[in-house]
Amino acid sequence: MPTALDDDRLERLIADAARQSQRRRDVRAAAREGRGSGFDGFVAADPRQLHDELARRRGASSSFLELGSGQGLVTIIADLLGYDACGIESRAELVEDAEDLAARHGAAPRFVVGSFLPRGEELGTLLDADFHVTDDQAASAWDEVRLRDFDLVYAFPWPGEEELFAALLQRHGRKGQCLLTWQSAEGFTELFV
Ligand SMILES: C[S@@+](CC[C@H](N)C(=O)[O-])C[C@H]1O[C@@H](n2cnc3c(N)ncnc32)[C@H](O)[C@@H]1O
Repeated sequence: MPTALDDDRLERLIADAARQSQRRRDVRAAAREGRGSGFDGFVAADPRQLHDELARRRGASSSFLELGSGQGLVTIIADLLGYDACGIESRAELVEDAEDLAARHGAAPRFVVGSFLPRGEELGTLLDADFHVTDDQAASAWDEVRLRDFDLVYAFPWPGEEELFAALLQRHGRKGQCLLTWQSAEGFTELFV
């Protein structure tokens, strides 16, 4: 079981993910042409910090779930570190990218297209009514995957939407489960259910 990824392998994966991400941005920019620019809504966490944090936690946790896995880089790193890894992502095109990226780097995590919000979840003020980045329209992924099945749950919340993830774990998680979040300013925070 790898305790850390070989530096070259990690750097190749990160560089490939960056190229793929740029291609995706180009496609979206082209699609927006003539319609004014719009906010893409996709921001990726720092993969090297994530790698180190997941490697450090590998002894205590064996399964990993990413809520909003984007192009899949973090879930792929978790898979390569030996976690039973799964990512949920509402944008199907990003899941397609994630599966391609995983295949190119010898990883085989599970990616599920759908929302990490349970169907009919009462969100109250957890999401701002006028402006929020978390997608509250996509069909729920929870028919295919169960939040309770994972030791370590990771998310990179949009600023102001951190409480949503804590509430999800408190409402639907299981005792002993850890929610790890990453925010550009604060770095990592953890919450045990
Ligand atoms: C800030 S990005 C973080 C990407 C990745 N987790 C990382 O740390 O690099 C948030 C991701 O969550 C996805 N997302 C937003 N709302 C979602 C929802 N309800 N269910 C699943 N994915 C969602 C977005 O499409 C985007 O890919």
